[in-house]
Amino acid sequence: MAIADCHLIDLPRIQDPRGNLTFIEGSRHIPFDIRRVYYLYDVPGGAERGGHGHKALQQVIVAMSGAFDVHIDDGCDKKIFQLNRSYFGLYICPMIWRDITNFSSGAVCLVLASDLYSESDYFRSYEEFLLAARKTG
Ligand code: TYD
Repeated sequence: MAIADCHLIDLPRIQDPRGNLTFIEGSRHIPFDIRRVYYLYDVPGGAERGGHGHKALQQVIVAMSGAFDVHIDDGCDKKIFQLNRSYFGLYICPMIWRDITNFSSGAVCLVLASDLYSESDYFRSYEEFLLAARKTG
């Protein structure tokens, strides 16, 4: 699992003078069964989220409103995705450290996840993540 496995998913856009519509269909647009949805909102200026890695969890992140930067790191390479459109999803494979920064005012970060919340799936320490990533990478 590496940075190269993380990619943007182009979601359908139904453009309409009354307002645009995007939809997400489980098996069609998302490469895993969605078992959990959560969202970050009311993020104060300058605050950062993420700051962890996942052992097995897969996620797709969508900027439902506003903008933010997703920094991903597989232990060797790093990349930054600026998300600011609600018709792009960022797929994040397992074994990726992520930091989410630079939230605009009113930003909403939606996360589709492949499993239920489990603290044992987290790497909370970057050093511990690096050791594991370099062993498996
Ligand atoms: P955390 O995943 O660390 O947030 P972020 O993705 O911004 O780093 O979660 C923050 C807290 O919320 C932590 O105490 C665990 C809890 N939490 C749940 O109970 N369920 C969930 O689905 C998530 C994502 C977090």
